[in-house]
Amino acid sequence: MHNVYEISPEIFWIGGNDRRIERFENMFPLPNGVAYNSYLILDDKTAIIDTVDSSISALYLENIKHVLGGRSLDYLIINHMEPDHCANIEEIARRYPGVKIVGNKKTFQFMEQYYSLDMSSNYLEVQEGSELNLGSHTLRFYLAPMVHWPEVMFTYEVQKGILFSADAFGSFGAMAGNLFADEVEYDNQFLDEARRYYANIVGRYGSQVQAVFRKLGNLPINMICSLHGLIWRGEDIAYIMGKYDLWSRYLPEKKGIVLVYASMYGNTENAMNALAAKLAQRGVKDMRMYDVSKTHPSYIISDIFKYSHIVLGSCTYNMNLYFPMDSLLREISVLGVKDRKVAVLGNHTWASAAVKCITELLGTMKGMELITAPLDIRSTLKAGQEEELNAVADAIYASLMESGEAQ
Ligand SMILES: Cc1cc2nc3c(=O)[nH]c(=O)nc-3n(C[C@H](O)[C@H](O)[C@H](O)COP(=O)(O)O)c2cc1C
Ligand SMILES: [Fe+2]
Ligand SMILES: [Fe+2]
Repeated sequence: MHNVYEISPEIFWIGGNDRRIERFENMFPLPNGVAYNSYLILDDKTAIIDTVDSSISALYLENIKHVLGGRSLDYLIINHMEPDHCANIEEIARRYPGVKIVGNKKTFQFMEQYYSLDMSSNYLEVQEGSELNLGSHTLRFYLAPMVHWPEVMFTYEVQKGILFSADAFGSFGAMAGNLFADEVEYDNQFLDEARRYYANIVGRYGSQVQAVFRKLGNLPINMICSLHGLIWRGEDIAYIMGKYDLWSRYLPEKKGIVLVYASMYGNTENAMNALAAKLAQRGVKDMRMYDVSKTHPSYIISDIFKYSHIVLGSCTYNMNLYFPMDSLLREISVLGVKDRKVAVLGNHTWASAAVKCITELLGTMKGMELITAPLDIRSTLKAGQEEELNAVADAIYASLMESGEAQ
């Protein structure tokens, strides 16, 4: 059966959820599934804003038919050409051959790369600031390049102040009936997944997110409809905008420490646990510890976006870094994470490389400040080295106390 929701007069959510999917982009675990949102406006003219992933096509096409109630479809607006949203374009063009497909130059370039059906006679090309009048709803388009992909644009409904924001403001996690962020326990249920989504999917494009924020600066926005996850309205808009502002400037949300280690036989792990205990005894409260071999990097990256301090510990492996640690650090570098306070522990048995490799990778990032000299362990941390560990704990503690109140 169809499953739709009128989120504002004449504007319907026609998306769906996928709880069976294991991984987003075949990479990021989805323990709570994911939602694909799409919207249909029923005015003098009818318009759909973005489509959904192929996994929910059957329900999606039924939703469209139900809401249209026998009317034809006049416009299909494509804010984003990634396959998790554009999978149904061809089918819609077949079912509603008169539909005008609204996109920018890049949208159509990508459409032709993905599809072989010639839909060029359906194209309606728009530019920055172009408007489309549907009757009592006017849509205005704002280009948002690299707020995930180069063709991305936002669609703004002028009369009600509704921003259709493509992937921006999205989240991992399927929805359970409630579509609005103010109807759920957001901080408990969704915030961590929204951050993990942002950090890993959009994280690299902080400056582009900032650019689009500047562009939309004075626009009255009463509702934000993303392509994944909950819809924002009223006072909650300032809340999520505030989070995006921090994330996109790579500013920590909280003072606190993420401790990440790579350890085969448990000796580096032991040193990290001993260090965390010493930090706790000095009064540090908010610490998260991860084993890179166990926890998917997307969760670690999410916490690295969240917290102000990082402790990295790794054994040496074939005169290099243990490779899950190596790949984690490379990904953090690719995402553009910057301005964190860092401490480093290494471990080796015959020739040290971990400390050097970690330090070099940190050097590829901006503003990663080593707050104390790395501690390089020979195989195991000995009781006689307690003072060295105390010195590392003191330095981290002092740095935490020094750094201004995190937001
Ligand atoms: C496959 C393999 C390669 C290693 N390569 C090096 C190396 O290049 N240099 C070195 O000093 N130790 C090397 N080691 C030794 C580890 O760094 C050492 O066992 C370390 O204490 C492991 O710490 P852990 O107990 O936290 O796993 C290697 C160990 C293994 C199993
Ligand atoms: Fe995307
Ligand atoms: Fe997406």
